[in-house]
Amino acid sequence: MSDQRHAERLVSRLTMEEKAAMGSGAGFWRSEAVSRLGIPSVQMNDGPHGLRIPADDPENAWSSRPATCFPTASCIAGSWDMELVAEVGAAIAEECRAFGTDLLLGPGVNIKRTPLCGRNFEYYSEDPFLAGELGAAFVRGAQHVGVGATVKHFACNNSEYQRMTIDVRVDERPLREIYLRAFERIVRLAQPWAVMAAYNQVNGHFACEHEELLEEILRGAWEYPGVVVSDWMAVYDRVKAVASGLDLEMPGPSSKNDDAVAQAVRDGRLSEETLNRRALSMVRLALRAAECAEGRPAGRVRETPAEEIRGEEAESHHQLARRSAAESMVLIKNEPPPERGTTRTGRAPKRGASSAPVLPLDLSEFSSLAVVGRFAEVPRYEGGGSSKVRATRVESVLEGLRELIAKLPHDSRPEVKVAGGYGEDGTAEVSEIEEAAAVVRDADAALLIVGLPDSVESEGFDRAGLELPKGQVELIRRVCAEQPRAAVTIVAGAPLEIASWLDEAPSVLLAGLAGQAGGGALVDVVTGAVNPGGKLAETWPVRLEDTPCYLNYPGEAGYVRYGEGIFVGYRGYEARRIQPALPFGHGLSYSRFTYGTPSADRGEASDDEELVVRVPIKNESSRDGTEVVQLYVEAPECRCARPPKELAAFTKLRVSAGDEREAVLVVEGEAFRYWDPEVSGWVCQGGEYRLHVGSSSQDIRGAVSVTVVPAEPVRPPLTERSTLNEWLAHPQGRELLEAMIPPQLQQTFQAAGAAETEMFRNMPLVKLPRLTQGMITEDQVRQAVRSVSRRSDGA
Ligand code: BGC
Repeated sequence: MSDQRHAERLVSRLTMEEKAAMGSGAGFWRSEAVSRLGIPSVQMNDGPHGLRIPADDPENAWSSRPATCFPTASCIAGSWDMELVAEVGAAIAEECRAFGTDLLLGPGVNIKRTPLCGRNFEYYSEDPFLAGELGAAFVRGAQHVGVGATVKHFACNNSEYQRMTIDVRVDERPLREIYLRAFERIVRLAQPWAVMAAYNQVNGHFACEHEELLEEILRGAWEYPGVVVSDWMAVYDRVKAVASGLDLEMPGPSSKNDDAVAQAVRDGRLSEETLNRRALSMVRLALRAAECAEGRPAGRVRETPAEEIRGEEAESHHQLARRSAAESMVLIKNEPPPERGTTRTGRAPKRGASSAPVLPLDLSEFSSLAVVGRFAEVPRYEGGGSSKVRATRVESVLEGLRELIAKLPHDSRPEVKVAGGYGEDGTAEVSEIEEAAAVVRDADAALLIVGLPDSVESEGFDRAGLELPKGQVELIRRVCAEQPRAAVTIVAGAPLEIASWLDEAPSVLLAGLAGQAGGGALVDVVTGAVNPGGKLAETWPVRLEDTPCYLNYPGEAGYVRYGEGIFVGYRGYEARRIQPALPFGHGLSYSRFTYGTPSADRGEASDDEELVVRVPIKNESSRDGTEVVQLYVEAPECRCARPPKELAAFTKLRVSAGDEREAVLVVEGEAFRYWDPEVSGWVCQGGEYRLHVGSSSQDIRGAVSVTVVPAEPVRPPLTERSTLNEWLAHPQGRELLEAMIPPQLQQTFQAAGAAETEMFRNMPLVKLPRLTQGMITEDQVRQAVRSVSRRSDGA
């Protein structure tokens, strides 16, 4: 019997009460089983960057079992590397298998609308294409191992401010083009087992009770076959939620709500057919999970779950955490030290040109290295809230450095001098700054780690501003003033104010919230064992005022209006010609890449086929390295506003020193479409598109033009409210309009000046009878509308 038939058969044998009860959890982390029919329960755990299984510790409700803490989504997004993200997804899923977790509550793919969102560290990007690609990779990786992934939080949970109640008022176009697009891509490319409905409301309906989102779009248009689970405690009205498409209320049990659902069916307020569909989703999930669990190494591990991740698995996952963190770090700036020739202590560097950039640090060159910043010793590697993983082990920068130094020949080992720089809350006191200044002054080079403390970045609330904690900017200034060979490293899960001090630091590296092996990874990057190749997945603004949503954040009176529309992230900075501190896609390398001329595989394209753009990339340096080559589409003149550029393809290329390789960028036809609110669908504007190829959204190295011909030309329907200009632009519309105008009127129109003509043309058709004092009748207008809509319907 097919799985579907088997599941349907089981649903037909469930009582109404059982079906209702399956719609809420059996506890905090599992679904309801129906043992008489052999329907097992499904265990779910957070996600997204590591597994969090509560430890059932009566002393500490927050405690969880050790698992590998991988780089957070905001950090790993810097890798722009789908293979790597899939590998991490698979490793987390392997740990799920060991613990008996069937469904992982991740990835989080909400768009970063404001840099202040407390949960940005859990999300990938401000760009829906990039977030969709990375999210799909994660889901594929996890599900390949037989553990389901849950894409969250659907939809528009883009800030934490009043997250459980706020009403997001968003227009149809940004909803489709920006906020739903990553979800859509993941659903289509990777078929996640589950989608988690968010806490907030979207245009007046809670996400868990949103029929349009859950039924029309997710299940209807995208043909999503999986489960819709609520965010934890997100359900207000369960009957409405069930009617609108929600399968599972979490956590449970929620017998009051189960009873309400059963009663609603008895009263005829909820159809039993709908309840059957919800139960079918749950049964299919349970069967699928059980089937995957069968293949687990120790049989049904669920009965004997592991206590912790140990031995080889722990070690290999730790190494993956380190590699993925190093691959994700973004080199923001890297210049030679301002004072050249000798080091501060008067000794000339032992080897190498002094005009070389500050990074990588060749430790054997130095007699001493100053390491400043509490985070070097007490790593900060993840954010707060439900995603917090209890790491199997944590590697600090200092440990990593000492390990590395111990491997050097005795006479090449630099002394490591340490200064705390700031306290637990991140504040750098004057005395700490002075101490740091003294330590770096006497060293040959300094590694300074700054960033946000634990208390600032978390689920449940937003950040108050972009600033580093008090005193840290002064700390950066003093360290860089005292020590020309200073490398500043940033530990944070979201953009910070950087513009005011960037000029004073010769070298800046974004380490992000890099997971439990972030310390070792940072050492790998700053010492050159790994050549950084990460790129920013979000724009860093100069000031908060420059962020596209500035006037529409955080909201008021219970709602937030997404007034910036589609102009989110770099789309908004570029359209308003506001220079950010660091543009989307930016990131340097120790290698230097030059781009050849891009070429497209043809000059004419359509929106239903792929187009391939190739560009030669040369590594002009003596180091092997990686370059993320990005392609942005610039649309021609269109009746709807278009962003100056939109990311449509990218590829990460590994190029050996001195070599040249070809980057192949596959542009999907849909990159030429936009969501037209009048048509209520995706529309392709025909014309000449520029495809910009570059190393960041603002470092464009070449472009190629293609003429795009829509596969199916779609025009907005002509109505009586369409302007005369719109009627004239439409082939049948023009014919009908011209036929309506009697000769004497034509003369009047011809006699009008240019401004008057334009004024008339901007009037809606429906005003013609009044304007012409009855020479054109209302009946003629009605006829024209009827016949144009008949012709567009193909009648
Ligand atoms: C979060 C979810 C998480 C759930 C379970 C909620 O507070 O928003 O992302 O999966 O808790 O811990």
